[in-house]
Amino acid sequence: MEVIETRQQLRTWRGKVYGSVGFVPTMGALHEGHLSLVRRSLSENPWTLVSIFVNPRQFGPNEDYQRYPRTLETDLRLLENLGASAVFTPPVEEIYSPEDEVHISLTRLSRLWCGSYRLGHFDGVALVLTKLFHLIAPSRAYFGEKDFQQVRIVEKMVEELFFPIEIVRCPTVREPDGLAMSSRNTYLSPRGRAQAVALYKVLQYIQTLAPTTHRTAELLQEAQTYIAERFPDVKLEYIAIVDEYSLQPIDHLRQSARPRALIAAYVEGVRLIDNLLLTPPEEES
Ligand code: PAJ
Repeated sequence: MEVIETRQQLRTWRGKVYGSVGFVPTMGALHEGHLSLVRRSLSENPWTLVSIFVNPRQFGPNEDYQRYPRTLETDLRLLENLGASAVFTPPVEEIYSPEDEVHISLTRLSRLWCGSYRLGHFDGVALVLTKLFHLIAPSRAYFGEKDFQQVRIVEKMVEELFFPIEIVRCPTVREPDGLAMSSRNTYLSPRGRAQAVALYKVLQYIQTLAPTTHRTAELLQEAQTYIAERFPDVKLEYIAIVDEYSLQPIDHLRQSARPRALIAAYVEGVRLIDNLLLTPPEEES
């Protein structure tokens, strides 16, 4: 496995490889969620490049950029064992310069949900991915459904900027109790960790109620009560039921062929997100 730190080394590596290149962008502190993306890429491409780069531009001023877990040695070992072809782990100066002129400003999709609470977050994601896509020129890039709004925005960006890259969505990998794996779960105390399962539990609860009511306002009301009663330490940021293509809220489950529930909440000051595709209730006879 080649460990690449500079754009020049990356260009050399890219010039040597033939056939499809699968790309898995990450911020490191790798867990099974990330590794599932890498395995999928390995199964579909002769070459798989993983990037590990904690992207300063996607963190707000009061967010956890400095504190974000950095475990490069372990990450490299895990990727080597899986059989990744190369890892791109550039220092910040390889990607950004203080004189940078270009900023990407996204509009509709990125102003919703997480974007409305993390101003500029998706602009930063789009900027780093644009740079990485240009440098790596992958055939396919792999993203987790765990960050559902992110993968929808990336699909839209690739379509509009004519990147010749296939975006592959991969299912959310969960802990045995259902908590979606996340590098940020490591911030939680044992008590917080026990409360964090609330995000998945409430999504499942909505799914079980879905056959009894199609009205999303009612489902969301029930969901809020469920959290308040059972998980007092969970501070809900938003919970919504949207059409998964447009990310627009829907009033009625039947309004969308693919309704998806999205949730963001704080536990012990740690921001967690999750989402679940809702199976629409059977048509009434
Ligand atoms: P990061 O949070 O490290 O996630 C990297 C990729 O792993 C993303 O596509 C994310 O959706 C996926 N992932 C994370 N947890 C997952 C889980 N439990 N199951 C399945 N996939 C999971 O997302 C980012 O980094 C950054 O925004 C990035 C795209 C690298 C741009 O900086």
